[in-house]
Amino acid sequence: MRTRYSLFYNSSSVTQSSQETATLTFGDKALDLPVVTGSEQEKGIDIARLRSATGAITLDPGFGSSGSCTSAITFLDGEQGVLRYRGIPIEELAESASYLETAYLLIYGNLPNTHQLDRFKAEWAARVALPPGMEKFFDSYPKTAHPMAILSAAVQMLSAYHPELTNANPTPAQMEAAIFTLLGALPTLAATGYRKSKGEKPLAPRKDLSYTPNFLYMMFGPPAGKTEPDEVCVRAMRQMFILHADHEQNCSTSTVRIVGSSRASAFTSISAGIGALWGPLHGGANQAVIEMLEEIHKSGASFDTILAKAKDKNSGFRLMGFGHRVYKNFDPRSRIIKKACDQVLNRLGIHDPLLDLAKKLEEAALKDDYFVSRKLYPNVDFYSGIILRALGIPTEQFTVIFALGRISGWLAHWKEMLESPDFRIVRPRQIYTGSTKRPYRPLSERQ
Ligand code: SDX
Repeated sequence: MRTRYSLFYNSSSVTQSSQETATLTFGDKALDLPVVTGSEQEKGIDIARLRSATGAITLDPGFGSSGSCTSAITFLDGEQGVLRYRGIPIEELAESASYLETAYLLIYGNLPNTHQLDRFKAEWAARVALPPGMEKFFDSYPKTAHPMAILSAAVQMLSAYHPELTNANPTPAQMEAAIFTLLGALPTLAATGYRKSKGEKPLAPRKDLSYTPNFLYMMFGPPAGKTEPDEVCVRAMRQMFILHADHEQNCSTSTVRIVGSSRASAFTSISAGIGALWGPLHGGANQAVIEMLEEIHKSGASFDTILAKAKDKNSGFRLMGFGHRVYKNFDPRSRIIKKACDQVLNRLGIHDPLLDLAKKLEEAALKDDYFVSRKLYPNVDFYSGIILRALGIPTEQFTVIFALGRISGWLAHWKEMLESPDFRIVRPRQIYTGSTKRPYRPLSERQ
């Protein structure tokens, strides 16, 4: 790697440094490509000029070695199992922050002071109620509808009540109003969809409750003899929301960015992100993990049998909740949730056989070379369902809970992308492998 010296273009949090380059030799060409150095010393080779200079593109199915952007929101170190939101370790936020504090941190870049937090809460609280008339939208869904299908559609329906927030070039005030509208409405949409699916009357949001207790209240009402949800449940759910709030360029956040890059509205971008999160390889894994554990519990299959199936590429079965594109060490969130499982179940006086089963399955997998050699560890979804079950959340709602955490991260990335000096529509290239040129032949010749 040759080092060339010139003032390095300083964008967002990249450090001022000499212009480092990577030299690509391609045929008879040698191309110096600038190297971007992030604030945590990550290196990215800027290939923006590659095609114009060589006619070639890079190819990276699944984008395992490709960065789509620079971002100052979340830092992951997959080898060390590190996760920080705007530089603050996830362990400290999960222990001490509120969800709206965390949302403020992700969206604006710093933890709020009292005045900033009070204003943020007031703007959020002003938007927790659904627009008049929107509730009847939920009556049109068949009982077979999955909650994530309803949530994604409901977000688009919400935009119909806010045409002033769907324009292609939103002002800062319009961006902020869209952010508060979505942050305020999503829990209410989720709880309304849940209660309607059970034939129960929705409970109106309470402006005296903050994000997490308000959601639990709208879902289940207050426990018998109480006016507010139980503090143990609130603390556990708050941690879940914080742990799921952001995770840099994951599948659903990348989807939000891609859709938003066409200058579709925040509502359309978030609705698309909900769709991407639903997939069982992504946020839908939390539902798939519990269904897998229930199946194992019911069948009594041995861990050897289960692990053999997971290793068999032809089985179509994977050990759900295991593995990660970035973490090649423990997912720090999984460690926190695993610890919280014991605390929450003990405090609620619940014994869930699936927790013991999950712990034993983790132990068996982490002794198996297939998993160890591929650095497949439990991810955020492996234990999260255990806590959600203890809180009374139905399995089909698990990924909705993930979305209620991730909404602040999605909105932070949508805002960061629109405000970026590098903003442009996302349109990857491809390498064509189909038929070369050939003539149209009429039907009579195609028998
Ligand atoms: C989330 O990106 C994010 O940050 C996501 C997320 C977030 O907060 O947004 O962290 C949330 O989505 C967590 C992941 C939830 N999904 C699951 O738990 C589903 C099970 N996991 C896998 O499907 C898989 O591990 C992925 C999807 C998570 C990652 O897929 P990759 O990076 O494409 O890895 P891969 O499929 O290329 O696997 C590499 C090898 C393969 O074997 P070989 O070809 O080397 O022989 O590991 C094997 C895979 O077959 N493998 C597994 C496995 N995960 C990977 N084998 C069995 N069981 C598994 N779970």
